[in-house]
Amino acid sequence: MKVLVVGSGGREHALVKGILRNPAVTEVYALPGNGGIAKETKVTCVPGNAEDVAAVAAFAASVDDLALAVIGPDDPLALGLADEIRKLGIPCFGPSKAGAQLESSKIFAKEFMRRHGIPTADFAVFNSLDKALTYVEEASLPLVVKADGLAKGKGVTVARTREEAREAVRACLEQKVFGQSGERILIEECLEGPEVTVLAFCDGETLIPMVPSMDHKAACDGDKGPNTGGMGVIAPNPFYDAETAALCEERIFRPTLKGLQKDGLPYRGCLYFGLMLTKDGPKVIEYNSRFGDPEAQAVLPLLETDLLTILLATAEGRLRETQVRFSDKASCCVVLASQGYPGKLENQGVTLALPQDLPDVTLYHAGTKLEGGRLVVSGGRVLGITAVADTLEQAIAKAYEFLTECLFYKAQYRTDIGQKALTYLAGDKERKK
Ligand code: AMP
Ligand code: GLY
Repeated sequence: MKVLVVGSGGREHALVKGILRNPAVTEVYALPGNGGIAKETKVTCVPGNAEDVAAVAAFAASVDDLALAVIGPDDPLALGLADEIRKLGIPCFGPSKAGAQLESSKIFAKEFMRRHGIPTADFAVFNSLDKALTYVEEASLPLVVKADGLAKGKGVTVARTREEAREAVRACLEQKVFGQSGERILIEECLEGPEVTVLAFCDGETLIPMVPSMDHKAACDGDKGPNTGGMGVIAPNPFYDAETAALCEERIFRPTLKGLQKDGLPYRGCLYFGLMLTKDGPKVIEYNSRFGDPEAQAVLPLLETDLLTILLATAEGRLRETQVRFSDKASCCVVLASQGYPGKLENQGVTLALPQDLPDVTLYHAGTKLEGGRLVVSGGRVLGITAVADTLEQAIAKAYEFLTECLFYKAQYRTDIGQKALTYLAGDKERKK
């Protein structure tokens, strides 16, 4: 069986590794892939740009008997790559352009939630600078200002002061720092509570949530520093207990699936629920139309049933008849980034000398490439180190132990991935005594 995986991050490496576990796989094409993906057996990296929809579709069409295409990142989904691949008669894991609007337009997502009664932060939409600035003067603080469109994770400002809010509004509507993505903005009420990521397989008829996880988005320890794509993840997320899961099923997952159906939005892929557990119950902060990165690197290693079977069943609308089972172990993924990330990167081109994976520790590559047979650093987030163990504490310890063997010149990482979860678990034990 031949499979195409579109993208080049740690998420795509986790997808490729999962897919390769199925012995029926004869070849995986990664477009463009990265240095680690290129080193996997049965993998061919195909140079190209994942956002060049016509070229990626032409490549898919050129492969005889391609069984499945899996699209990792948001941009090609927002550009309609999944629709183009389906037009070729090739099953595709990734939502239609219409379905991907849940991520590509934050305003579309908020209006979808309002229409279908899905709990989320109160919001107002603006395209006029004056009206937005007037609103900022009158609304209560803190406020959250968001560019409507995709902004590589940089379009959100949590403003604690009016001046910060004004600056964020001006950046979008006056200075146009996000271009078209910031032509319309959202101003939201600021919610409080622990954050949870729930990824779900969804084929438009059936939605199956995966193990809940916790991302660590800030660059530095103690949730300080600028927002990043994610510096580490633990799973399961202890804040997401059985009661919360039942509430999410009833108030969020089922209404979202029904909403997709009512609005005629075809969705065959991964639906990402970014949730905040507020004192008024769980609320949706955002949807993404793909696996989270690094969430995929912590969640997929816990999957016990066959990933390829699930991806194919999702792409073909047969998810209802498919077994999806996760182990009850815990995982921890720590990201090693280049110094300067998410700003100006320092150590590009540095050679990497890396250890072999262990049975319970896996090294996922993101910003790496092969240069004349040499593995070098080529991006912001470079590696994701995921350990799986019986307890979260053990998984964290193992990931950090392995990390010391992967350090490269000017590597940057957080030392506190999972600590908030451990503190909560310790308190939970006390409360139950
Ligand atoms: P987003 O790109 O919408 O996920 O926002 C990035 C981050 O900003 C989220 O992970 C939250 O930590 C924070 N955030 C976004 N919206 C809100 C909100 N309404 N209230 C509080 N925090 C928020
Ligand atoms: N880790 C956050 C995201 O993938 O959007």
